[in-house]
Amino acid sequence: MNRFFIAAALCIPAACAAGDPAAGRQAFAKCASCHQLGSPRSGFGPHLHGIVGRPAAAATDFRYSEAMRGSGIVWTEDALRAFLKAPGKVVPGNAMRFTGIGSDREIDDLLAYLRTTR
Ligand code: HEC
Repeated sequence: MNRFFIAAALCIPAACAAGDPAAGRQAFAKCASCHQLGSPRSGFGPHLHGIVGRPAAAATDFRYSEAMRGSGIVWTEDALRAFLKAPGKVVPGNAMRFTGIGSDREIDDLLAYLRTTR
C-alpha cells in the first residue's frame, strides 16, 4: 500500500505519460472479482502478484487451461497490453471470461497499477 502511494506522489508528468496507477487501481475493479493483486493467492482467476515479467501460467495454486499453459508467453508490458485488449486473440481458447478493454488509456493505467507489485 505504502509503495503505491509513494509511486503516485513521485509521479512527475513525463513519468505519468505511461499511465496513472491511481486510475489503474480503480480500473482494476473490473478484474478484482477474479484476481488478487495484493497477495499471492489465487481465486477464480490466478493471482496477479508480480505479473509484469512473470511467465504465463506461473501461479502454483491455480489450475490453468491447456491454452494458457501452452502459450509460452512471458507477461511483458507489451504482451499484457495485447492480452487485455483481446484475451481470446492472444491466447485462443483461454479460460478468462473477459471481453477485453477498448481504451488504451485505461490499459496504460492498469499496467501502471500492475507494476506497483513488481
Ligand atoms: C471472470 C473472471 C476474470 C476477470 C473479470 C478477469 N480475469 Fe484475468 N483470468 C481469469 C482466469 C480464469 C484466468 C486463467 C485463464 C486460463 O487458465 O486460461 C485469467 C488469466 C489472466 C492473466 C494471465 C495470468 C497468468 O498467470 O498467466 C492475466 C495477466 C489476467 N488474467 C489479467 C486480468 C486483468 C488485468 C483483468 C481486468 C482487466 C482480468 N484479468 C479480468 C479470470 C478473469
